[in-house]
Amino acid sequence: MSDKIRVGIIGMGNMGKYHADYLLNNKVSRCELTAVCSTSPHKLESYKPLKIFDNGEKLIRSGEVDAVIIATPHYQHKELGIAALENGLHIMVEKPIAAHKADAERLIEAHRKHPSQVFAAMFQLRIEPRYQKIRKLIQDGELGEIVRINWVITDWYRTEAYYQSGGWRATWKGEGGGVLINQCLHNLDTLQWLCGMPSRVRSFCDLGRYHDIEVEDNVTSYLEYPNRATGVFVTSSGEAPGSNRFEIAGTQGKLVLENNKLTFTRNEVDMIEFSKQAKVGFHKPDVWYADIPFQNAVGAHAQLMQNFVNAILDGEPLIAPGADGLQSIELANVLLYSSLMDQSIDLPLDSHAYEQKLQELSASSNYGRKKVVELSNEDFAQSFNR
Ligand SMILES: NC(=O)c1ccc[n+]([C@@H]2O[C@H](COP(=O)([O-])OP(=O)(O)OC[C@H]3O[C@@H](n4cnc5c(N)ncnc54)[C@H](O)[C@@H]3O)[C@@H](O)[C@H]2O)c1
Repeated sequence: MSDKIRVGIIGMGNMGKYHADYLLNNKVSRCELTAVCSTSPHKLESYKPLKIFDNGEKLIRSGEVDAVIIATPHYQHKELGIAALENGLHIMVEKPIAAHKADAERLIEAHRKHPSQVFAAMFQLRIEPRYQKIRKLIQDGELGEIVRINWVITDWYRTEAYYQSGGWRATWKGEGGGVLINQCLHNLDTLQWLCGMPSRVRSFCDLGRYHDIEVEDNVTSYLEYPNRATGVFVTSSGEAPGSNRFEIAGTQGKLVLENNKLTFTRNEVDMIEFSKQAKVGFHKPDVWYADIPFQNAVGAHAQLMQNFVNAILDGEPLIAPGADGLQSIELANVLLYSSLMDQSIDLPLDSHAYEQKLQELSASSNYGRKKVVELSNEDFAQSFNR
């Protein structure tokens, strides 16, 4: 194999251009951007002399690339991913890896037939030291057994102009959902990466609570885990200023991540043991307080791309394997499904039942009829990092 990977980007909107920018600025070694593709190729003239395509399949078959980044709207991820795998390419798929769980299963199944090709997913929060430190504390047993998880992440604020900026956005047929499948997917991946999957959920989703959209933009969910831990996950794309507070309580102590600060309040004695041994009624275990320092990652997307390239060239283990993308989609889908069905739902989610429900919603979707208004220029990178 050559010592350099030739990469193409399919979908050159906000995210595709962001990937192109750091690749063209040589932020990923042993990787060369050779081709870009958009359904509006006239907007890509400035990328010449790179090869420009108006159709993803053409780029995939061109012989110009060894790997592709798929950064189109969600529904195209599965078909483009499968086409790329069948044409011998490695794939880095933007989140979510597909528009819903059944499509994610189809893409993962296609990869099973091509195991020597690398399939990664763009979950750049996994690069962030704050989440890596939380993960290590949990894995090292510092928290004891997890008993409660609360994540209130209501600072994914988006305006009406944002939702009008793409015909696919916030439609059942074009996007497959709202704040859960789009903005929060990063948090749902992080949640399951740190704490595993719940076994049962009950959720309440408001459709178009804050915006003129058909999908959910306000969510309150209750989660139950196999070990009887409980969780609450609250999100919104309409609340300002909003909050981002992530709290994980274990029998050995409590972690809180808020305002870019991570604190660990550690019980000197496991709380269950203390309760069993104590001869008094009102005391709690003594605690130590620790502020856990961390820096925010610089160029998290580029770092994850570097890992993808290293996986192809050197066999380095992936930080975000594509197949891991299933869990976050399952969470996004099941939280919506519970609300739509007005009942608790056990996991694993029946992906075909959910797909059918989504098809019913898509039948009356506004997709294709929506007026699209281009956003005025602003710093897209501000949208990252929760
Ligand atoms: N990882 C992150 O931080 C992050 C941030 C934003 C968006 N995303 C993801 O990136 C993807 C794209 O989002 P966006 O905000 O850039 O959307 P966007 O609407 O700005 O861009 C989508 C682009 O895809 C092109 N396109 C559509 N269908 C295509 C096809 N079949 N073939 C080729 N090109 C096609 C469109 O012309 C458009 O240029 C989504 O999956 C989104 O969830 C990820």
